[in-house]
Amino acid sequence: MKRVFSGVQPTGNIHLGNYLGALKQFVELQDDHECIYCIVDEHAITVPQDPEELRKHILDVAALYMAIGIDPKKSIIFVQSAVSGHAELGWILCCSSYTGELYRMTQFKAKSGGKESVGTGLLTYPVLMAADILLYDTDVVPVGNDQKQHIELCRDIAIRVNHRFGEDTFVVPDGRFMKAGARVMALDDPTQKMSKSALNEHSRISLLDQDSKIKKSIMRATTDSDGEIRFDPENKPGVSNLLNIYSAFSGRSVEEILADQNWRGYGDLKKELVALTQEALRPIKQNYDEIRESDELKAVLRDGAERANAIAEKTMKRVRDKFGLGF
Ligand code: TYM
Repeated sequence: MKRVFSGVQPTGNIHLGNYLGALKQFVELQDDHECIYCIVDEHAITVPQDPEELRKHILDVAALYMAIGIDPKKSIIFVQSAVSGHAELGWILCCSSYTGELYRMTQFKAKSGGKESVGTGLLTYPVLMAADILLYDTDVVPVGNDQKQHIELCRDIAIRVNHRFGEDTFVVPDGRFMKAGARVMALDDPTQKMSKSALNEHSRISLLDQDSKIKKSIMRATTDSDGEIRFDPENKPGVSNLLNIYSAFSGRSVEEILADQNWRGYGDLKKELVALTQEALRPIKQNYDEIRESDELKAVLRDGAERANAIAEKTMKRVRDKFGLGF
């Protein structure tokens, strides 16, 4: 069975982009793959975090994983910092990567904004991400489009190390991207991707949003003034984004949807999308509260960490041996 690994940062406001780009794949893959899903708290501290908030958000994401349908009997769910191999392999891989390739990362450029006093962790973040993936001999990494460059870097590092120490050192993984959900754009500004940190709450729909908030955010989503419903991300990014979300939720292609519809204007499209989104998120909200309050949640994470650690330790033994470490 092929192995899957992916992770989400515990930083609150998990939104439709996270769901349609990544989380939905997590659930789909677990029946015929060996899946490992991580809550990447060590990534979250690349920017300052309040420790209490971080602890809370870790449990929030764990509960959300289960609420969307990740089954801890089928998949491993665990917290990154509970398995020390991530940080250890992260360091080893730092010594097998180049500052030039890290400075070229789009996300680093965007987050550092050319400032001098940028945290070193923001620069080396993709190396830790490569360590997360390579630690588990991962074959497939389900993610949104914004992680494509990081997956490429992970592959480059794996191939580089394999070249030096032998092909049996690391499995070279592939990214897995959704057709419709890979890049969900902000509702208020469809030229930007939907993000957890945007100030305008109507720029995103969080998975736990109430029906009234979902309605408001979609009905006021930015479109354009020509009134024609057509899929054209370059010239009509707002409408195209709504069609993409529609397609991701309905499981039908944009072409099929457009061939079938009899909308008189953007308002009709939006109204249908509101209903579709409310319906899709309802069961998640229903499951969430119960799971978040249950004692089972922490037990799942403890068990997940144990199972993840057993796999990670095998890889670390091999890697230490290859590099001449671990006397
Ligand atoms: P994070 O926490 O920012 O996002 C979690 C997942 O959601 C996807 N995503 C989106 N997909 C579509 N449209 C959007 N607007 C959108 N915004 C976010 C992300 O691509 C991601 O799949 N570096 C990662 C976490 C990570 C990881 C890993 C992932 C750490 N180690 C190892 C895979 C494998 C991140 O910050 O995701």
